[in-house]
Amino acid sequence: MKIGIIGLGFVGLSFASVLASKKYSVIGVDSDRIKVSKILTGKAPFHEPGLDDTLKIALKNGLKITTEIRPVVTECKLIFIAVGTPQREDGSIDLTMIKDVVREIGKNLSKTKNIPTIIVKSTVIPETTTKVVLPILEKESRKKVGKGFGLITNPEFLRETNAINDTINPHVVVIGGYNDKFAKEIENFYTKFHKNVTIVKTNHQTAEMIKYANNSFLATKISFINQIATICEAIPGANVDIVAKTIGLDPRIGNLFLTAGPGYGGSCLPKDVKAIINFSTKYRIKPTLLDAVEKINQQQLENIIITIKKKIGKIKNKKITILGLAFKADTDDIRDSVSIKLIELLLREGAKVTAHDPKAIPNTKTIFGNKVEYPSSVKEALKNSECMIIMTAWKEYTEITNNELKLMKKPLVIDSRRLLVNHNLDMDYSAIGVG
Ligand code: UGA
Repeated sequence: MKIGIIGLGFVGLSFASVLASKKYSVIGVDSDRIKVSKILTGKAPFHEPGLDDTLKIALKNGLKITTEIRPVVTECKLIFIAVGTPQREDGSIDLTMIKDVVREIGKNLSKTKNIPTIIVKSTVIPETTTKVVLPILEKESRKKVGKGFGLITNPEFLRETNAINDTINPHVVVIGGYNDKFAKEIENFYTKFHKNVTIVKTNHQTAEMIKYANNSFLATKISFINQIATICEAIPGANVDIVAKTIGLDPRIGNLFLTAGPGYGGSCLPKDVKAIINFSTKYRIKPTLLDAVEKINQQQLENIIITIKKKIGKIKNKKITILGLAFKADTDDIRDSVSIKLIELLLREGAKVTAHDPKAIPNTKTIFGNKVEYPSSVKEALKNSECMIIMTAWKEYTEITNNELKLMKKPLVIDSRRLLVNHNLDMDYSAIGVG
């Protein structure tokens, strides 16, 4: 059974590589020629632990990568759509990419005898599969769902930096669709691919809502602990990590996603929370809790700026060092990274910004160019600095000692991830969540 995967970002490329590495016959499609040529050399266009190795095995096993949708529609039984669904300025979901792909699938479907199942893996707002994807497919193909093709909503829950493992061992598989032979076919596929994983079968709109509920809840946990962190800061001696660890022992709470920090970033949580807020508002539902989740997320950055100003006074012409640019450690992804927003604000106020990151400098240069300095080591980044701010929890930052910090002009550290909290630093040290 041939499998097509359209859209080779974190989700699509990880899925294609894992499947092909396990000897499934896979065609991966992406419209970006440069990306496609890079993938064909066995290198992912982004940093994801373990992906290059899996991709290389996949290519050896015959993984095909192309810019053409046609062969996928004529040859594949299962066609997964994993293109991006970014946000528009007003926070609503931008369905342009998914609509373009679906139109192309529909057109090719009208010219083939193949009866594939089309599976929407991209994160889409409730009712997109039935009210947007389905009408386009039926119109362009001149075929009916359930007869000429099957249609399934199948959200993805993998995390960047753990994409390969999450693809192999997901915590759940959600199959949204009609209870027909196509749903059965995809259920059989997943039952063979993952042993012992719970499969939830439901309708399209519930499957779509599950994905937003999942990401919104994760964001809620983070904003909750960030709120507690801010309160801890007002209590001398209080430490949010001990609070989080202890409440996490209550099985009703759970210990994951309770690490306070500069706020959630990345290509998913911020945009998905905004999209579901926008969607609810359209239905005249006031998303009070999610509004607060977002507000707290913004406040985390505002609080960092307030701390800097309190400690160093005017920001203009001060040399400020930012350690960590990626939205989390072990990735080069800076999409919606709080660190990037912080640098924007600091530059606007006239600071001289020096930034360090083990992986994300090339991506950061595409935004700031030479407005920011990028020394190659932490030591260099700290020389003559008047304030150092840790933004991403890279392991190497946990190894910073008093000796390195002595290179600073003024020994002032703001640690948004509490990496140095137990290091007995003899300097002005502030950490998010520590009173
Ligand atoms: C997130 C979800 O975790 C995945 O389940 C989901 O599939 C994915 O979005 C998606 O929708 O595609 P990801 O964006 O890779 O995954 O990143 P997370 O690990 O969730 O981290 C997001 C942000 O939250 C990061 O900025 C991270 O530093 C922050 N975070 C996370 C915290 O501040 N505290 C925590 O305890 C956990």
